[in-house]
Amino acid sequence: MRHLIDITDLSIDEIDRILDLADDIIANGPKYAHVMQGKKLATLFFEPSTRTRLSFEAAMLELGGSVLGFSEAQSSSAAKGESVSDTVRTVSCYADIIAMRHPKEGAPMAASRKLAVPLINAGDGGHCHPTQTLTDLLTIRREKGRLGGLTVGMCGDLKFGRTVHSLLNAMSRYQDVKFVLISPEELRAPGYVTAMLQNCGAAYREMTSLEEAMPHLDILYMTRVQRERFFNEADYIRLKDTYILTARKLESAKADLSILHPLPRVNEIATEVDDDPRAVYFKQVYYGKIVRMALMMTMLGVKA
Ligand code: NCD
Repeated sequence: MRHLIDITDLSIDEIDRILDLADDIIANGPKYAHVMQGKKLATLFFEPSTRTRLSFEAAMLELGGSVLGFSEAQSSSAAKGESVSDTVRTVSCYADIIAMRHPKEGAPMAASRKLAVPLINAGDGGHCHPTQTLTDLLTIRREKGRLGGLTVGMCGDLKFGRTVHSLLNAMSRYQDVKFVLISPEELRAPGYVTAMLQNCGAAYREMTSLEEAMPHLDILYMTRVQRERFFNEADYIRLKDTYILTARKLESAKADLSILHPLPRVNEIATEVDDDPRAVYFKQVYYGKIVRMALMMTMLGVKA
């Protein structure tokens, strides 16, 4: 029995196998319709979510299982002062697998100690978000046919953006990937993330201009400025419109660029870009459901 707290809990081989299973689920959907019969997923969301929570639930339902849970801390006993560990331990008596999101970094890790059922980190504060990374990897592999040999631009809030931290952790383990980290000075990737890139010998550059980076990129990963993690509103307002991707800015991009975004978007991608065939962020939403099907099957040892 294993938990998934950080994307590095999975080896590259394990990730590749989860993505292979996801490919098979896409190709042979009906084969998987009942594999989770009798199994229950609990989604414990102490922080808002649309895609992550609903994709977990849709994934379990599509596999023939059932779901329970809560979508805000106020509707759980957390509102009465219960500790996260006690809440999660309680829920482990009701469910076979738990997906949990929390605004505090490290909360899922703390909650997973001594837990008798597998726990999946569905996002902890500004730290990491391993299942979004599996989503991103499946999207990139299906669009590009590979995960190595790519130049990946990550743009926006690289400081608080947990999806960025986890994706860097995963992709830096594939061969010959180059990263271009595009952010305002104040929102650069944290030191522990760039130290990780240095330690594994990954090629990366930090820059402030999206226009300058654009012609070199195979993947452009746009992100939202994470308002809820800012200490003061004035800084958020000053930084929130730094990067807005428009059709005009894409004129210098490669013809086979793929544009990803974990969503939700605020205004960092103009809606006119949605019609560009290079925009794959809504396909990415679909892959998020599929890859969570593959992940839960793997974690529960369920076979088709
Ligand atoms: C992301 C998250 O929650 O970190 N969204 C998601 O899970 N799809 C990104 C964000 O909120 O900006």
